[in-house]
Amino acid sequence: MLKRFSISLEESLLEKFDQYILGHQYDNRSEAIRDLIRKVMVRKEWDADKQVMGVISLVFDHHEPRLQEKITLVQHDYHHHIISSTHVHMDHDNCMEVIIVKGQAGEVQELADRLTALRGIRDGNLAMSSTGKSLS
Ligand code: NI
Repeated sequence: MLKRFSISLEESLLEKFDQYILGHQYDNRSEAIRDLIRKVMVRKEWDADKQVMGVISLVFDHHEPRLQEKITLVQHDYHHHIISSTHVHMDHDNCMEVIIVKGQAGEVQELADRLTALRGIRDGNLAMSSTGKSLS
């Protein structure tokens, strides 16, 4: 069930928010605010070490000695947390590995930290998401 409420906001802040809405393709302010609230809720799930989902992405040069092997080793240490992984050969040197993960937030964060800290990883990111159960 939808509930309505009104928000008071400084004009300058509202202008910035409206620009943000335009820049992010939202249909209206309500949808943008709903999305921001959900993002806060997802962050809370992670902070409270709840069951979460996420996506780890790694960019690296496959010529880096033993790096691919280490990436695989770490993933096997956390195989219960990994739903799927995809390797993309982006160009002659660079690869991207995208890993879909789930589990206790702390353990998933630990997996992401171990992977992104490997020497030779050029870019490592963890996109924090949710199982969706507590967002309805
Ligand atoms: Ni590759």
